[in-house]
Amino acid sequence: MKALVLAGGTGSRLRPITHTGAKQLVPVANKPIIFYGLEAIAAAGITEVGIVVGETAAEVMAAIGDGATFGLRVTYIAQDAPNGLAHCVLIARDFLGDDDFVMWLGDNLLEGGLGDLVPEFGQEQRRLTGAPAAMILLKKVEDPTQFGVAELDPEGHVVRLVEKPADPPSDLALVGVYLFDRRIHEAAAAIEPSGRGELEITDAIQWLIDQGQPVVAAEHRGWWLDTGKKDPLLEANRVLLERIEPRNDGTVDDASRIEGRVVIEAGAVIERSTVRGPVVIGAGCRITDSFIGPFTAIGPNCEVAETEVDHSVILEGSRLLQAGRLVDSLLGREACVTRHGRSGATRLTLGDHSTVDLG
Ligand code: G1P
Repeated sequence: MKALVLAGGTGSRLRPITHTGAKQLVPVANKPIIFYGLEAIAAAGITEVGIVVGETAAEVMAAIGDGATFGLRVTYIAQDAPNGLAHCVLIARDFLGDDDFVMWLGDNLLEGGLGDLVPEFGQEQRRLTGAPAAMILLKKVEDPTQFGVAELDPEGHVVRLVEKPADPPSDLALVGVYLFDRRIHEAAAAIEPSGRGELEITDAIQWLIDQGQPVVAAEHRGWWLDTGKKDPLLEANRVLLERIEPRNDGTVDDASRIEGRVVIEAGAVIERSTVRGPVVIGAGCRITDSFIGPFTAIGPNCEVAETEVDHSVILEGSRLLQAGRLVDSLLGREACVTRHGRSGATRLTLGDHSTVDLG
């Protein structure tokens, strides 16, 4: 079993952050999203991983390297243009050979990782039920129109899959984690580009169904987050912060209060402030006369002074100076927000190096 992790794409739904960086490297709970997927793959006992990279290849390669820190052996596969998920399978043909593989979309987060999916897809089950060409994971969602959607028959067999339907046949979305055997290669080669001009993996799996190949579906029980947009990203940050182990490697003065689940990294200094967990404060931050949290991740080397920050992700090197109250915000690297203490809450999505003076 190998893994194919997709880390290309333009990240258009997470602009402006993705104008300057890969969406898969945006941190949640101060760790790049894609790291959670790589850890889940390693935990499932897989070591050979192909990572499809696009425009942001250099950044992704710098962050992941040869994969050794995850216990993985990583091969990078360059995609010239974001031509779709099935196109990624096509260009990974040499890497994948005839092996079974897990395909993991690098911006997807899954509670419990791969769980037992790999052994389930393996030999034993094949012997009992006939070899599935694909195993898909499904999750009930409120708005299925944004996803691939599955229609099941009353016995739970997959009848039809449709990508981003205007009129969804069910509320079961396709999670961005799939298991395939080599039959997917023929499927990926057989389909035509969709309305959005991409070779859709959803269409490739539908092609398998049309050919009478067994495609099995499992409903994912835990949470699943596709972090390609701001609100799900903040939601992922919230969920993952709730699981951190509290730790203080920084310096907190006597006039500050630290409440609940809080991680303070080395070199961070907190003065005359309240930090209400779950919160993570990155290395080298300086927090003064502020209120941080809950559900907030402050990246390394940020400066926060006389500011309240709640339910937000603030990337490395940002400065919030008398910025009032920021909620539901996502700030890129080295953003700077000032406001001089006027009241009311502000919601911001800011790219790297933005400067905002709210007056
Ligand atoms: C892709 C798939 C879609 C799936 C989703 C999960 O959508 O095409 O079927 O439900 O990932 O994250 P995309 O993110 O490319 O719009």
